[in-house]
Amino acid sequence: MEKLHINLEEKSYDIFIEKGIFSEVGKYISKVYKKKKIVVVTDTNVDRLYGDKLIKNLEDTGYTTAKVVFNAGEENKNFNTLTEVYEKIVDSGIKRGDLLIAFGGGVVGDLAGFTASTIYRGMDFIQIPTTLLAQVDSSVGGKVAVDTNRGKNLVGSFYQPKMVIIDPELLKTLDEREVRSGMAEVIKYGAIYDNEFFNFLLDKKDIKDSMNHIEKIIKRCCEIKAKIVEIDELDMGLRMILNFGHTLGHAIEKYYNYTKYTHGEAISIGMYEITRLGERLNITKLGESEKIKEILQNYNLPIEDEVKLKDLVEIMKTDKKNISGILNFIFLSEVGSVEIKKISEKEITEKLLK
Ligand code: GLY
Repeated sequence: MEKLHINLEEKSYDIFIEKGIFSEVGKYISKVYKKKKIVVVTDTNVDRLYGDKLIKNLEDTGYTTAKVVFNAGEENKNFNTLTEVYEKIVDSGIKRGDLLIAFGGGVVGDLAGFTASTIYRGMDFIQIPTTLLAQVDSSVGGKVAVDTNRGKNLVGSFYQPKMVIIDPELLKTLDEREVRSGMAEVIKYGAIYDNEFFNFLLDKKDIKDSMNHIEKIIKRCCEIKAKIVEIDELDMGLRMILNFGHTLGHAIEKYYNYTKYTHGEAISIGMYEITRLGERLNITKLGESEKIKEILQNYNLPIEDEVKLKDLVEIMKTDKKNISGILNFIFLSEVGSVEIKKISEKEITEKLLK
């Protein structure tokens, strides 16, 4: 069993990672929550596969439970669903001092976490992530949000869970495309922070080979994320490096109206393209984009798209992280380390399109 501690003073918490831990969740939860009532918030996909098992385990541990299920899909991470979830929680008799479990992938973690951060002006919650993306990224670090018609994650907050419980066995029911997409975020951690980890991933033949080492992989990603979040919980500086490949990636996702690529695939293209650009601008050591290309292709991830950079530039100008016309771009200096560069809208047009 791998245990990590994320040190945020009174908001500190543990992350437990172990194959099979899901069948013992109640025991782990009882370490941090001694009262009786728990509400599980999940989506229809996860509920169908694992809902009953989770509820039984919690009840066998002595908890009284309620379950709130919403329709799976990013298109449901919105205010309508949020209102329904609030009302169902209230109707089920769950109160402020009780516990909420966010049980699912990134959409569930974000929406259920945002619910926990706002209902009754905040109630405690635990993350049990079920996708690779959620296990290595979104369940750790306390970013919670919902989308609006104007963009993704536009309304949200920083609200740390009391514990994160990660069972890699739950990934067995994911389709391969979703696992590959999660691998893009895994590769990101190596690229921005840990050359040795990058080479370890590069050394694996394919996804199947990597899955034989999945506990170690998830642990290293969570360790890196924990270190970054401990230094910059509120995303004012260092945490931005987690956005490597994301500014371009988000623009690609948006350009195709979120239909052509998964998030992981889009940031895969973003990581490769920003590395090529970094080389052109003499920020990134020459040759690094070839390494990025090789690793992404080993995992069958896309590296290019026919969309014109000038169309992406227009979308990037509307990025929610564009503050007064300035965007932070994350460039690799070389694999394992990054530079944050502030680029104005004017320079984006000049530098990216030159
Ligand atoms: N997923 C990026 C972050 O948590 O900051």
